[in-house]
Parts: sequence; structure tokens; C-alpha cells
Amino acid sequence: MTTGLTLALSKGRIYKDTLPLLEKIGIEPAEDPEASRKLIIPTNRSDLNLMVIRATDVPTFVEYGAADLGVAGKDVLLEAESDNLYEPLDLNIARCRLMVAVPKGRLLPQTRPRIATKYVNLTRRYFAGKGQQVEVIKLYGSMELAPLAGLADGIVDLVDTGNTLRANGLEATEDIVTISSRLVVNKAAMKMKSSFIKQLINELSEVI
Ligand code: ATP
Ligand code: PRP
Repeated sequence: MTTGLTLALSKGRIYKDTLPLLEKIGIEPAEDPEASRKLIIPTNRSDLNLMVIRATDVPTFVEYGAADLGVAGKDVLLEAESDNLYEPLDLNIARCRLMVAVPKGRLLPQTRPRIATKYVNLTRRYFAGKGQQVEVIKLYGSMELAPLAGLADGIVDLVDTGNTLRANGLEATEDIVTISSRLVVNKAAMKMKSSFIKQLINELSEVI
């Protein structure tokens, strides 16, 4: 078994926000994942590789031990409902809120409103927790379009500046949860490679 570590993360926002944290603890990727077609990127530490995958796949790779560690949004973690991973550190990056939004000036219908979202599990749990029945429609992006196109009464999506909601005539009506990205660790790796992982967690916690 390799003694090195693999850290899974996604391109875009999460990579951009994680890179400065890694740099502060002396870790530099050998290539820029945004420019490279490589999916495994070595770093200046021979015992640490980055694995570049889709944001929603990070919990899966870490849960199955295909990656020892990962960086994932709390939204993705809540949706994935993975059992086999630890979440030792809030990296406090990619901060936003998960909200319910509807066309401006409207309310969700009382009876079984249609909610479009990519967070199907999370949305069901949230409305069930309030004792409200909803019909959840799974989308993979551009949720804001659903109420405009008559596909749904409302959406559950991430909101940061609120610009996307405003640009599409929507307004947030319920705040579900505050989101930030977390360091996640495979449970077996945490035992087998504990000193290396704990050192990484300690170093990162000092620069957050
Ligand atoms: P995929 O490519 O798998 O569809 P994605 O497009 O959701 O993933 P990103 O847009 O890079 O990937 O989002 C990654 C994470 O960043 C999200 O899971 C969330 O935690 C956070 N995030 C998303 N949108 C925002 C935003 N507008 N402001 C701040 N953080 C955000
Ligand atoms: C996210 C999210 C919202 C938007 C909210 O989309 O799905 O659409 O950001 O941010 P705002 O409140 O600052 O406008 P993103 O920009 O990541 O695009 P994508 O997920 O569709 O790729």
C-alpha cells in the first residue's frame, strides 16, 4: 500500500480557493489543473498528489478510498449523505447559502409545490422536516430558469451575491443552510496514514 496521499478536488471555484491554502503550507502543484488535461497532478511533495474530479464526485472518491482526502462543498456533502468519511476541517472557502427562491412577489403554493433543484435528497429532507409535501424535480444546472419556464414553482439553489436570482426575477424566501467547503478524509486512511493526515490537518488549520 502506498504511504503517499491523494487529495481530490474540483476545478474552478474550489481549486482556486484551495490553492492559496496549499501554497501557505508549502504545497505547489507541478501543473495547473485548469490548463492541464491530466487528472492526477503531482505536487512539489513527492508524497502528495492532487486528483482533479467533478465537485459532486469528491465524496464518492473519498468514501471508497480512491482518494484519501478531498475538498468538497457542504452542499455536496449533505446531498451525498456519505457515511464513510470524516469532515475534520471547515476550510471557510467558497462560502454561500443554500436557499429556497420563488418568482419575485409570489409564494410557494400551499399544496405540493414543485421545486426544481440539483439537491434532491437535501430538498426532500428540508421540506419533510417542516412537514410540507413537495414534488422535487431533479435538474443538473441553471435551476433559476425552472420557475421562469413554468417547470417549477420554486427552486433550491446556492446564493452568494444574489445576482443570479435578481437577474432572473427571483427572490430568496427561505434560508436552508450556510455553505462552505470542507476537508474530508476517508475513514480507513485516517487510521492507516494517521500521522501524515493529522500533520496536514494541523498545518491547514493554522492557515485558514
Ligand atoms: P459540477 O461541475 O460537478 O456540476 P459545480 O458546477 O457545482 O459542480 P462549482 O460551481 O465549482 O461546481 O461549485 C463548487 C462548490 O462551490 C459548490 O459545491 C458550492 O459549495 C460552492 N459554490 C457554488 N456556487 C457558489 C457561489 N456562487 N459562491 C460561493 N460558493 C459557491
Ligand atoms: C452558482 C449557483 C447560482 C450562483 C449563485 O452557480 O448555482 O446559480 O452561483 O451565485 P450569485 O448569488 O453570486 O449569483 P455557478 O456560478 O457556480 O454556475 P454553475 O453552477 O451553473 O456552473
